[in-house]
Amino acid sequence: MLATLITAVVDGLEGALVRVEVDVAPGLPVTHIVGLPDAALSEARERVRGAIRNTGYAYPQGRVTVNLAPAGRRKHGAAYDVAIALGIMVASGEVVASGGDWALLGELSLTGEIHPVPGVLPMVHTLRRAGARRVGVPAANAAEASLVDGIEVVPLAGLDDAARLVAGPKGRRAARARRTPPVAVSGPLAESRGTDASLVRTDARVDLAEVRGQVAARWALEVALAGGHSLLLVGPPGAGKTLLARTIPGLLPPLDEREALEVTVIASVAGLLGPGDGLRRQRPFRAPHHTASYAALVGGGPRLAPGEASLSHCGVLFLDELAEFDRDVLEALRQPLEEGSVAIARAQGTIRFPADVQLVAAMNPCRCGYAGDLERACTCAPGEPERYVRRVSGALLDRLDIRVEMPRTRPSDVLLGPEPECSETVAARIALARERAASRNGGRLNARLGGREIVEQCRLATDGRDLLAAVAARRRLSARGIHRILRVARTIADLADRASVSSTDLLAAADLRDPAATERAGLAA
Ligand SMILES: Nc1ncnc2c1ncn2[C@@H]1O[C@H](COP(=O)(O)OP(=O)(O)O)[C@@H](O)[C@H]1O
Ligand SMILES: [Mg+2]
Repeated sequence: MLATLITAVVDGLEGALVRVEVDVAPGLPVTHIVGLPDAALSEARERVRGAIRNTGYAYPQGRVTVNLAPAGRRKHGAAYDVAIALGIMVASGEVVASGGDWALLGELSLTGEIHPVPGVLPMVHTLRRAGARRVGVPAANAAEASLVDGIEVVPLAGLDDAARLVAGPKGRRAARARRTPPVAVSGPLAESRGTDASLVRTDARVDLAEVRGQVAARWALEVALAGGHSLLLVGPPGAGKTLLARTIPGLLPPLDEREALEVTVIASVAGLLGPGDGLRRQRPFRAPHHTASYAALVGGGPRLAPGEASLSHCGVLFLDELAEFDRDVLEALRQPLEEGSVAIARAQGTIRFPADVQLVAAMNPCRCGYAGDLERACTCAPGEPERYVRRVSGALLDRLDIRVEMPRTRPSDVLLGPEPECSETVAARIALARERAASRNGGRLNARLGGREIVEQCRLATDGRDLLAAVAARRRLSARGIHRILRVARTIADLADRASVSSTDLLAAADLRDPAATERAGLAA
């Protein structure tokens, strides 16, 4: 007897429909699965066989042929397990299908439990577009599946639930007497889900009111977040670089509808959506540890999963201890950061993950951390501080829009200084500036403007143009350098709600790039 069921796989950020056709015929008791890569094949066969038996159904004695169509499509993961199992159960007569436009997703354990799988959101989206009206999904993925309108979501805990769904209210030989009692389930669940183990701890939010002193760095962060400009914090250990970065989640405005869906799809494909997680509203803030691998940061790996660059899409990627990162890994990040997307090459063409990311980084000025400190001697060997900074490629450093030095936090700042502004106040200014920029730039942040666009948006008066020419000549700025100053100046004007960019804004922007150079050039006065 032949049975056909519908399921899906995920490919990049897209779901793709897969038809499961099962034929059970008399013959030697063998199971053939066609349409799966060799490695996945035997595993799927064992999971399905174990799940069917341990749920109390009979595994057919004859010859079982399973075809996953289309054959040419790459099928990784294990979301098709449940559909294969039900296909076999229907084809062998263990379950009588009631018919209907439904589909099944989920990975099976040997005990018949249904485990969550990555990418349920895009897969359900694809199934709905293909006309499915009901979909059975792993119970832990039900919340994300429910984000798709127009399709009924049925949560499945085990293979028995899937059998009931397929059998429908009538025609239910599915409830054929169990031959074996259900196996008690223990052990770690859903181990295969993506983990955040490689992240620097950032869960505890920090309010800006906790960051004392560091006026320049606070201001630089405000400008960076208002315009989407990349930012580098340099300072000795204990200056509060990590502390300041951890205020970022509380300073960013929430995602809009389109962004929220994109961010949630990426989290879904990475397997990072928890059982109760609905649409992601909060802008991502990811802080991968400096030991993170190329695949972890950029994406790819055996599962073709999005990396940190894509997990920070529409938000901030924070690289703490920048100089400790593997140089090649940082180098690999450069292109995605510039293009706003990651391209991952594989056998069947390239897939792209979005990575429209704002980079924030922090580093010590040298290995001991005290180079340039007025009160504490640097213990590094001569030449060592320069070498330390050079560990980060010049090309990457050159692409950081704002650089700010954080001096050691003085006791007087901590004990006596004025009460700093809190995150709520600063977040409100940032949100307003972003709205002003967005309404002028067709929804984009200032950092995303092209060279011609930024020149048009700045509407410089004559004195501003002269000043910029002087700064550019003194610092031997390239066109890129000039555009960078203009973008940051535009943001500073937006924060102050000024329609055009003044000379003061230009000087302030030049300072945010290289304060020492501005001083040397005698332009600060
Ligand atoms: N400017 C500051 N205001 C308040 N506390 C600070 C400041 N700088 C450092 N600290 C305290 O020192 C701790 C270590 O700071 P941290 O941010 O880890 O420094 P860094 O990353 O620059 O080495 C912080 O958790 C905080 O308690
Ligand atoms: Mg730190």
